[in-house]
Amino acid sequence: MKKLVFFASGSGSNFQSVINAIENNKITASISGLITDNPGSGAIERAKKHNIPVAVIPFSPKSHFSIQIEQKLAEWKPDLIVLAGYLKKIPDSVIESFKNRIINIHPSLLPKYGGKGFYGQHVHRAVIEAGDTVSGCTVHYVNGEYDRGSIIKQIEVPVKPDDTPESLGKRILIEEHKLLPNVIKQLIK
Ligand code: GRF
Repeated sequence: MKKLVFFASGSGSNFQSVINAIENNKITASISGLITDNPGSGAIERAKKHNIPVAVIPFSPKSHFSIQIEQKLAEWKPDLIVLAGYLKKIPDSVIESFKNRIINIHPSLLPKYGGKGFYGQHVHRAVIEAGDTVSGCTVHYVNGEYDRGSIIKQIEVPVKPDDTPESLGKRILIEEHKLLPNVIKQLIK
């Protein structure tokens, strides 16, 4: 069975979408662990509920942070690493060792609204301010540059004239919860 390791900093709803897909037999995989930089991340509680091991690795002087991540990955031996709302940069050493085995979910139609500073509501605000009529979400491979690895799959979501960043973000998140399990299913086949 393929092993997944998740990285998350926030509420962990995308992480939960994959836990659910596994429990409902939509994906055949196991989750070896969760790595988070944020001791307050909602993903921690979700992991604990499902007996998934957690490593809290706060961002610290670069080498220390990288070494701790490398050690956990050496222990958990993932086939696929999934970044689901992880706000720190993955160390280059990890990107090098897991080429084409790290994916990320992003709440826009990349390459639009990606890169440094484009996270959470900042993304949706920029979409609305630009007057775009379509946004969406993207799953892509992770390389050394924020949100620039090759695109695997996207779902489009229409922007409504009265959308706020919050309302648009909510509708996109619903689609993210479908997209991420689908892509994982496709990749581990
Ligand atoms: C999602 O919008 C994801 O696309 C982005 O960060 C957010 C994480 O949300 N990378 P959650 O923690 O999975 O609820």
